[in-house]
Amino acid sequence: MSNKKKSNKMWGGRFSEKSTDLLTKINSSIDIDKRLAFEDILGSKAHVEMLAKTGIITKKTKNEILYGLKKIEKELISGDFIFNSGLEDIHMNIEARLGEIIGPEAGRIHTARSRNDQVVTDFRLWIRKAIEEIEAELSKLQVSFLKKAEKNIEIVSPGYTHLQVAQPVRFSHHLLAYIEMFGRDLERFKQTKERLNECPLGAAALAGTSFPIDRFHTAKSLGFRYPMRNSMDAVSDRDFVLEFMSDSAISMVHFSRLAEEFILWGSVEFDFISLPDSLVTGSSIMPQKKNPDAAELIRAKTGRVNGALLSLLTVMKGLPLAYAKDMQEDKEAVFDVFDTLILVIKISQELIENMKIKKENMYNAASNGFSTATDLADWFVRDLGIPFRDAHSLTGKIVEIAAKKNIKLNELNLSDLTKVEPKINKNVFKILSPEKSIESKNSFGGTALREIKRQIRFWKRKLNA
Ligand code: ARG
Repeated sequence: MSNKKKSNKMWGGRFSEKSTDLLTKINSSIDIDKRLAFEDILGSKAHVEMLAKTGIITKKTKNEILYGLKKIEKELISGDFIFNSGLEDIHMNIEARLGEIIGPEAGRIHTARSRNDQVVTDFRLWIRKAIEEIEAELSKLQVSFLKKAEKNIEIVSPGYTHLQVAQPVRFSHHLLAYIEMFGRDLERFKQTKERLNECPLGAAALAGTSFPIDRFHTAKSLGFRYPMRNSMDAVSDRDFVLEFMSDSAISMVHFSRLAEEFILWGSVEFDFISLPDSLVTGSSIMPQKKNPDAAELIRAKTGRVNGALLSLLTVMKGLPLAYAKDMQEDKEAVFDVFDTLILVIKISQELIENMKIKKENMYNAASNGFSTATDLADWFVRDLGIPFRDAHSLTGKIVEIAAKKNIKLNELNLSDLTKVEPKINKNVFKILSPEKSIESKNSFGGTALREIKRQIRFWKRKLNA
């Protein structure tokens, strides 16, 4: 695979000098895009089949090329394939190797094709497969959340707004909220996959080709819906990359919020959960520490994914049609985003499956902070016919009394209450416990048992399907 010729043998026909080392260095993408090797071979096979079918190359040449590509595939799998940075990228590495295996007929593989349509075809294939993997991992994660929610359906926890105790909820309600978030992530990825599933191959450099190719044939054989309608758009579009990265960034934001909750819940101050030693780390100086590094890194890696999205948005924003080499930068960002997201999904699953819930602590926190004050206000409205705004104000006064006495609302005497509003009767105590509060929230999507069970049934059906 040596490249002893003066200039690049793939494109250097008119060149009399070879590239400087620095040009080779900045131009070469093989260390990154070697990850497209199998997609590149897939695309080449489809292209060559089509070239033979349309009579552009002979059947004999097609068979030779397919034989060579098979051999290269084997070398890639066994690790014997030697990548050469002098050959820039994966496309030229594979074509050059094909030449070594079958001789000059290899050069016919690039008839009616350019690296511009080739790379973007490979990349669509790669991202399509990547999305399938992400979908599978996200679904598995949802199942873990669902099992945890079902198993802990009776656990009462504080629901927060502003990170201040707001109202008691079932802890399973909280977990089910994440299932919704990951469900939307899944949908976004699915839609991206649908939209990207059109084939750029045959657009050639940008203008199309004078050879009688059959773009519908290659599109179909690669599992794409249609060939892309406009050859210029086909080679210059990277929307699908940006969408993939946006989907990933949004999903990472969900993971980051989850990670933040893990960190809070595991702190001495909250003490809602504990993680097994296998999922925490120690401190080199403070012997007592068990640190939630995994969650912290999930939170941090969100910055990395957001950054990758922003970097490619920035790369694309000034590019005139059609192809420009700037676009070569898209792959490193995408591969990193994919690796990061998969790692984060998998470790989040380990965290959720292995966390131990400290239900007494959750319950205590749920009964503090006057968490049933809204229930009291609602009782005024429902039982005493008081308008909500007045009920809110009366309840505020009662909360203030309890706060001064440093007791919970259900620990107040009836006489404390009737001082504020003489019509209050002892029935009020029936609604002031966290359990009562929860069960009363039976509106669709609320935290009452019936509604949580409805949500669980929904996701069971959806995830089995
Ligand atoms: N390695 C290139 C990329 O990733 C392939 C396309 C090169 N096209 C070109 N006209 N130089 O974008």
